Amino acid sequence: MSNRTFTMIKPDATSKGYTGAILDQIVKAGFSIKAMKWIRLSEEQAGQFYDIHRERPFYGELVSFMSSGPIVAAILEKENAVADFRKLIGATNPAQAEEGTIRKNFAASIGENAVHGSDSDENAVIEGDFFFSKLERF
Ligand code: PPS
Repeated sequence: MSNRTFTMIKPDATSKGYTGAILDQIVKAGFSIKAMKWIRLSEEQAGQFYDIHRERPFYGELVSFMSSGPIVAAILEKENAVADFRKLIGATNPAQAEEGTIRKNFAASIGENAVHGSDSDENAVIEGDFFFSKLERF
């Protein structure tokens, strides 16, 4: 089991000014930040990142949303990082997210759901590598 995961604070949350509060909740939950950047993805880059969802009906909407404004990308470390972070952010659909989770606190809808969290150790590595060079992390 790896101790790292990858996250993005999505354009809905950065545009509403929630970045600081979300990072605060992440750090208070015991995650340490090993790499972080504020970046805006092009449609092409967002499409590449979410290529695994290309056949799903919401793919176009997801790509256009994720390239609509700045995001914060980060690599996080904590024991049991992937599972614990998914618990901290809550269900994909904020209407089904538990009280106190980041999506319950900050997300508006299943499409605009404030944060991303990797769903496996393998994808955490792939996603971290998508955004960060070796020089940009420790
Ligand atoms: S998950 O997190 O992989 O279990 O969730 P999943 O349902 O497979 O969704 C994958 C990503 O697609 C986003 N999503 C949507 N975007 C727009 N519209 C609709 N209806 C929709 N449903 C799901 C969801 O937020 C996931 O994004 P990430 O960045 O992986 O959290």
